[in-house]
Amino acid sequence: MKILFFTGKGGVGKSTMAAAAAWQLSQKNRVLIVSLDPAHNLGDIFGVDLQDNKTRYTNTLYLKEIDLRKLSREYLQRETDVLSSSYKYLQTLNLDNYFSVLKYSPGIEEYALLTSIEKTINSETDFDYIIFDTPPTGLTLRFLALPRVTITWIDRLIQIRQKILEKRYTIHRIRGPLSSEETLLDYKEEDDDILKRLWKLNSNYESLNRILQGENCSIILVFNPDVLSLKESQRLMEGLNDLNLPLRLLIDNKVTKENEGMAGYVEENMKKTAKDIPVDRVFLSKTLLDGKNGKLYDIQQDITSNLF
Ligand SMILES: Nc1ncnc2c1ncn2[C@@H]1O[C@H](COP(=O)(O)OP(=O)(O)O)[C@@H](O)[C@H]1O
Ligand SMILES: [Mg+2]
Repeated sequence: MKILFFTGKGGVGKSTMAAAAAWQLSQKNRVLIVSLDPAHNLGDIFGVDLQDNKTRYTNTLYLKEIDLRKLSREYLQRETDVLSSSYKYLQTLNLDNYFSVLKYSPGIEEYALLTSIEKTINSETDFDYIIFDTPPTGLTLRFLALPRVTITWIDRLIQIRQKILEKRYTIHRIRGPLSSEETLLDYKEEDDDILKRLWKLNSNYESLNRILQGENCSIILVFNPDVLSLKESQRLMEGLNDLNLPLRLLIDNKVTKENEGMAGYVEENMKKTAKDIPVDRVFLSKTLLDGKNGKLYDIQQDITSNLF
């Protein structure tokens, strides 16, 4: 299975390019396209009403829009449940209060998005392609960075937990035969639920990170022939590079006869940062702008021909 992420500044045509690629690839493959952008327009592009569940568009093309608010709520609820079952004594602290404050915590949307991407990748295995249409640059870079950030955190937490278990073991030895069943706390690593959960989380994020950095994952950056788009794309490329994520295609979208000079200039500059990455040009389609029927057929270029 191949995974494609369409990224870029708002309005450059990410959703349109993702949809066109999905449409084109679905002529010969089974494709699922998922919109992660809270400002959804995938349904509008295909002219259908989309729900949270995937919707069949043709025999080989399925569409899905993710409800980020619902996802964040569910994510928080799950984490709160885990917290309350792992730390029973916390119940005295009234977890509901935590829940009502935690929903404003930074990072929740990013974790919710990442969890949903992971779930989609792991469960939708009979698709040949999963295409993700991403939210604005900042949020995208943050959720793409999360696996690595989280692994770093979990490693540290594992060390702390192991120290706690060591201390428990010391106490256990000092107390010796005085230890009664009721006062005995787990001190063996393999008995400790918290440590087991940390190990599991660690291995989940490690495998997700391997998928994101792997050869079956492609990040596609869409931009327009203008300087603002160039600047934001350069920041995005820097971010992807820092995270070691595989940028594989640049799409210069909305090129016209009039802006071809600017298109050349922007492409030159993009190539300076992304040396061996192919650049596709997609021309501005008049009918697409008019929003007439059959919009996607108007994208004549084969969006992914340079990818595979
Ligand atoms: N090649 C193109 N030709 C004409 N209009 C385009 C083209 N690409 C995108 N658009 C239009 O530009 C607008 C923004 O595109 P969209 O795909 O929603 O951008 P994004 O998802 O990056 O915010 C839409 O009205 C879309 O129809
Ligand atoms: Mg969009």
